[in-house]
Amino acid sequence: MRRSIRLKFIPTLFSILALGLLVVTGCSSNSPTWLTPASTNAAMVTNLFNLIFGVSVVVFVIVEVLLVYSVLRFRRKSNDEMPTQIHGNSRLEIAWTLAPAIVLVIVFAFTLQTLNAIEETPANALKVKVTGYQWWWAAEYPELGVTTASELHVPVNQAVSFTLESKDVIHSFWVPELGGKRDVVPGKVNTTWFRPTKVGTFYGQCAEFCGVAHANMRFAIIVETQEDFNKWVGDQKKDPAAPVSDLAKQGEQEFLKGICIACHTVNGTVAKGVAGPNLTHLSSRKTFAGGTIVLNKDNLKAWLKDPQALKPGNLMEAGKTIPRLTNAQINALAEYLSGLK
Ligand code: CUA
Repeated sequence: MRRSIRLKFIPTLFSILALGLLVVTGCSSNSPTWLTPASTNAAMVTNLFNLIFGVSVVVFVIVEVLLVYSVLRFRRKSNDEMPTQIHGNSRLEIAWTLAPAIVLVIVFAFTLQTLNAIEETPANALKVKVTGYQWWWAAEYPELGVTTASELHVPVNQAVSFTLESKDVIHSFWVPELGGKRDVVPGKVNTTWFRPTKVGTFYGQCAEFCGVAHANMRFAIIVETQEDFNKWVGDQKKDPAAPVSDLAKQGEQEFLKGICIACHTVNGTVAKGVAGPNLTHLSSRKTFAGGTIVLNKDNLKAWLKDPQALKPGNLMEAGKTIPRLTNAQINALAEYLSGLK
């Protein structure tokens, strides 16, 4: 009887192990975690977590050891007589009320200290205005005269402050390794800030369900040296170079005479639309379509042919909001767009 119960348990055990394995492997290197902080604020929050987690582990171990000990030591043996009956113990009760209260006061004090430390935006912070759209992020650097989308560059060891606005529904700005998360609410300006401490690319994700392409509303914050950042700013401020090849020139004409300019801006041209991402330096980015598609000529062609197939729900729909493009038009447009550096 006992044996058959044990055997029945084995498939369940294997299922749990297999599920656990799936969950663990789901965390690829592209899934950022706040457990590896890369800004001063994120580090403070992670330290606070580690403190609370450490205290919890100590409490858990003490309680479990006492529990298991009591269960084993005082379990009923055969022919036991009635154990001594106890009704209350004031000293013990005061002790086990006070001890957790003291622990909570300590945790509360550290929490207040952390909240206070990350509350105040430093006065010399680099200002970035972030706007959430269904389903991509626009970023403007008002002091630098730069506008980009989905990939934000910031210098390392420099405080960066963000004002967060939404053009449509509630989004949430979150870069786990750098800080956040802060809701982006229509009709309201929220703020957040952080000081990145490591050079690298840190991925962000809209963290508030905002419609069909919510999962495809990603972005990246590229933290670089002050020198690299200055170079990036310099490049972004220039108008893109005029197309050289005939194909790219033809693409530019398609772009400027087409519907593209209703929604997109390319500095130095008549394209001044603001409903979609600014394309002035599109090809200086690694991704497009809200940080979800690797930017190369083939992917641009696939996008222009059928945007809905690559990112369902976006505003570009061939045959509806944009015309169906011929292969010749697509080739020319992709040539032009990949020249926008
Ligand atoms: Cu924007 Cu979810």
